[in-house]
Amino acid sequence: MLLFSLHYLPKRISTSATSASSAKVADYTWNMPGSGLILGIETSCDETAAAIVERGARTVSSVVASQIATHARYGGVVPELASREHLRAIVPVVRAALAEAHFALSNLDAIAVTSGPGLAGALLVGITYAKALAFANNLPLIAVNHLEGHIHAVLLNERESLKQMGAPGPASGTWESEERAPEPALALVVSGGHTHLYLARPAHGSWTYTLVGRTVDDAAGEAFDKVAKLLGLGYPGGPWIDALARFGNPNAVPFSFAQIKTKAHLGGRPARTKDAKTAPIARLDPHFLFSFSGIKTAVLRYVELHGMRSEAKARVSRVLTNFKPPQTQDDALALCPQATLDLIASFQHAVIGDLIKKTFAAAESLGVARILVTGGVAANRELRERFTAEAARRGVSIAYPTRALSTDNAAMIAAAAWPRLLASEFAAADLSADPSLTLA
Ligand code: KG4
Ligand code: ZN
Repeated sequence: MLLFSLHYLPKRISTSATSASSAKVADYTWNMPGSGLILGIETSCDETAAAIVERGARTVSSVVASQIATHARYGGVVPELASREHLRAIVPVVRAALAEAHFALSNLDAIAVTSGPGLAGALLVGITYAKALAFANNLPLIAVNHLEGHIHAVLLNERESLKQMGAPGPASGTWESEERAPEPALALVVSGGHTHLYLARPAHGSWTYTLVGRTVDDAAGEAFDKVAKLLGLGYPGGPWIDALARFGNPNAVPFSFAQIKTKAHLGGRPARTKDAKTAPIARLDPHFLFSFSGIKTAVLRYVELHGMRSEAKARVSRVLTNFKPPQTQDDALALCPQATLDLIASFQHAVIGDLIKKTFAAAESLGVARILVTGGVAANRELRERFTAEAARRGVSIAYPTRALSTDNAAMIAAAAWPRLLASEFAAADLSADPSLTLA
């Protein structure tokens, strides 16, 4: 087991806007070979998660405590409640991750924590706890951007599959430095807060990111959640729509892509987005911009025009008493009339069609032959089937995380921290939450 210097005192503080706040600490360099065990902590939204990952390539343990039951009755995340729930769960969740791994804190090489983007109060719980753990155990702290975490969820799964296939592990250096150089990839991060396209390029054992496209208003996951709420379905809405869409006709309601156009951008007016200043949309190719608020409004209009309001209202109490989405056609029909199932299927089909169209257009325009799709919405069945079919048709490689690693988890945070540990890029002592942290 590797011993660390007692002098973990950052000399210089980096305030880079493009990555999680970190400082390369000159007198604190991680010496290879260590065991490479990183404890990841994630509390950016409504999941309290802790995981231990070895060398960014093997998940030793992963624990996720979901707050769904707390927020479900409000139909969305209540930030204040999220912070309190994180505070309640953080110690047991970290303990469970250590117990599942059969490790003590003294076995670890570093602690990694999500520093943004996310809910400020929620992030602060994870950051404060991670700081205290790192300080008390004399371990380096690594700040991780949640979006980079989502991308590393795919890379972690790929390395785990390679290992299972018998490929040699990274005895020293990163896995990448020992494998053939990884190809650049176009990463679609599609979640409750983001629908962003990044060009991810390998660089000296790590990755650099360039923003290629993004939503100008709602994220795709947000649209799933809002449409589900409108239809009286459970929270979060994605899994409910995913489950019910299987029993509807995806062509019943002709949502056109014109409803997912980027009028604000094309008209030269500033786009309606909270962090438009930090990620200017004007410099992005309009063909790679998404907009999901139009289709959400179109669903609302359809519901009103077809008298589906009262039916949706009546569903709310039934859904609240049964947290699980229906899995059989009979159960789906017991919950929703066929016309509602058709509307749900048509909505999902249109959103996924738009994600496919713009993602593959961006890959083609950038000359990239590898696509990564990640984030909560990447758990969607139809999304995976159609992206996979389109990739095969175009001869492009495509990868997703496992469904468990698509939604928020801490294994992805620990995996993303591995290249930073190798580069001794540690968080500054004054690390704080950055709710609107960008990746590029
Ligand atoms: O990545 P994530 O867990 O948290 C964020 O970073 O936002 O993503 C959560 C989002 C929610 O909007 C949820 O409805 C959506 O992912 N989601 C899904 C599915 N599972 C989760 N959307 C569509 N189909 C799913 N199966
Ligand atoms: Zn996420």
